[in-house]
Amino acid sequence: MTALLEVSDLYKTFGSGEAETRVLRGLSLTLAAGEMAALLGPSGSGKSTLLTILGTLMKPTSGRYEMLGRDLVAADDRALTEFRNLHIGFVFQFHNLLPDFTALENVVFPTAVREGRETAEARARGRELLVRMGLEARVDFPSTKLSGGQKQRVAVARALMNRPELVLADEPTGNLDRDSAMQVMELIAEINRDEGTTFLISTHDEKIAGLCRRQVVVGDGLVTG
Ligand SMILES: Nc1ncnc2c1ncn2[C@@H]1O[C@H](COP(=O)(O)OP(=O)(O)OP(=O)(O)O)[C@@H](O)[C@H]1O
Ligand SMILES: [Mg+2]
Repeated sequence: MTALLEVSDLYKTFGSGEAETRVLRGLSLTLAAGEMAALLGPSGSGKSTLLTILGTLMKPTSGRYEMLGRDLVAADDRALTEFRNLHIGFVFQFHNLLPDFTALENVVFPTAVREGRETAEARARGRELLVRMGLEARVDFPSTKLSGGQKQRVAVARALMNRPELVLADEPTGNLDRDSAMQVMELIAEINRDEGTTFLISTHDEKIAGLCRRQVVVGDGLVTG
């Protein structure tokens, strides 16, 4: 399998002196294109830190990070913003939907802002994704009137809008009941299967992790399993 991304010997330290926290301590990880992996580990083990670094939203203290053949440690902020917009989608525990917007507007909005306009093509892609997420009847609904599970499915659609190679999800089902969580995971698995999108999904839930083909466990600043 081709590697989509590879991090090696990754260190991340926050603060200094007495407040110093060494979160990542020489962590290495390779994700192949098309993988669907769960990210596990105790609270405070560095899952969100790792996802933030992989998402190019924060640089490691030291170490190497390559994705799609690009050196993302050496890249400057401007190059990283462009790279991120093209290749990486994010889903968070709290969906962060814009309350005054409909489901479709939420999915299309980030792309529209970047491109400076909202195209018919973008709207069609957004609609298609919402239909895939089982939200056909909710496309033009105000986001505030959606249930938690529906909102999270809109957030997944939003992350997929630009056809990213990689989607990083930080506890995407953390706020959902079992049925909604399973539904979100099944849709992610379907996208992974059909479009080959690579997913890395942090969770505390073994059952959710079990739906992923691979489990990456973080502990003591390293991948332990
Ligand atoms: N910006 C920051 N400044 C200082 N310390 C931080 C910062 N971000 C994270 N940390 C610390 O790094 C450690 C790892 O945090 P992180 O959020 O990555 O853990 P996590 O595995 O995602 O935990 P959880 O399962 O609770 O979400 C924690 O001790 C945290 O307090
Ligand atoms: Mg976290």
